[in-house]
Amino acid sequence: MSIHPLLAARWSPRALDPAGEVTPAQLEAVIEAARWAPSNGNTQPARFLIGTRGTPTFESIFALLSTRNQGWAHAAAALILTCAETENRKGAIPMPEYGVGLAAENLVLQAVAEGLVAHQMAGFDKEEARAVFSLPASIRPQVVIAVGKLGDPSLLDDERRAKEEAPRRRLPLSEIAFTGEWGNPAFSADR
Ligand SMILES: Cc1cc2nc3c(=O)[nH]c(=O)nc-3n(C[C@H](O)[C@H](O)[C@H](O)COP(=O)(O)O)c2cc1C
Repeated sequence: MSIHPLLAARWSPRALDPAGEVTPAQLEAVIEAARWAPSNGNTQPARFLIGTRGTPTFESIFALLSTRNQGWAHAAAALILTCAETENRKGAIPMPEYGVGLAAENLVLQAVAEGLVAHQMAGFDKEEARAVFSLPASIRPQVVIAVGKLGDPSLLDDERRAKEEAPRRRLPLSEIAFTGEWGNPAFSADR
């Protein structure tokens, strides 16, 4: 069954074009898309710290990444540290991390719509992020999102290229969607 072309076009590549750039308008568009994500009670917990390649902010975010992620994310046009605000004037924001996840997917899909690619990473030092950027105590770092232009897989080493070119897999619908009772597939034809 086909899904919307925008959803079908999204994936998390590691081969990024080292010369690829993202325009200020594109960056604003992806954050604007994130801004319009739904959130519990419209509490809007998602926050973003943005660095474009060649700037000190990019270098600081890049330095937080795990060695494995640094191996490819250096070619990102922008690195976006995505955080959850956990408090507002009324107290604790409900389900802040869920809200950031929704905002992140909006961001990623807008990037695809802009002709870019986006790859989320949990592999970075969150405590160091807190220290380097003097994050307030109520802010919880979540993922760094690499945004850039798709590059050629030949840019990657053998191991990463093999992963890049491997078929993408998902659990079958029968393992994730049930009806009647838990475990009873909601859809008869399995994929
Ligand atoms: C919360 C989260 C954390 C992730 N962390 C990393 C990471 O540190 N490094 C990495 O290369 N990919 C990371 N990914 C990308 C996933 O591996 C990828 O989304 C998954 O394998 C499905 O592939 P697809 O996005 O191409 O469909 C992360 C994705 C999410 C949503």
